[in-house]
Amino acid sequence: MKQLAVFASGTGTNFEAIAKACAEGVLEARVAVMVCDKPGAAVIEKAQRYGVKTFVFNPKEYSGKAEYEAEIVKVLDSEKIDLVCLAGYMRIVGDVLLDAYEGKIINIHPSLLPSFKGAHAVEDAVAYGVKVYGITIHWVNSELDGGKIIAQEAFPYEGDDPAEVHRLGQKIEHRLYIETIKKLIK
Ligand code: GAR
Repeated sequence: MKQLAVFASGTGTNFEAIAKACAEGVLEARVAVMVCDKPGAAVIEKAQRYGVKTFVFNPKEYSGKAEYEAEIVKVLDSEKIDLVCLAGYMRIVGDVLLDAYEGKIINIHPSLLPSFKGAHAVEDAVAYGVKVYGITIHWVNSELDGGKIIAQEAFPYEGDDPAEVHRLGQKIEHRLYIETIKKLIK
């Protein structure tokens, strides 16, 4: 049984999809810990509902990224984590975490990378007039939404409503993340 860590900053629909897939045996894995950098984020309540241990921290209470990432590494080591899944974790991973876990960290992003990196990928793509949107899952390195691509799925959309793109993308995200994790932990 592989041990997963999921990192999230917000709503946690991807976290929930992964936790559910583990609970239902779709993934032969266990979410051992959910790491969250936003005290009060909705994902925390979701983790509690699934009985998943949480490590919640406020970056402002640390002297810098190295200090809180050292805490995260301790948690990951203690849970013997095989794969770290970033799921709406809106921070660039730093050296301390990469030194310990590079090659075991993946991220999901709501665009066809390398187009539209960053926190407003969907809004930026809509503003650009994009007609083919998509979801990317990639290995994590020190660059924002950088790292080699593992999986992508595109979908057409001709309108100009970012909320609709988010809605269409989310359905793909939940399925594609599970399929990809399944292949990686085989
Ligand atoms: C997801 O759409 C994910 O692709 C995006 O954050 C959302 C989190 O939603 N990630 C990024 O933009 C990373 N650059 P969720 O909290 O409902 O899973």
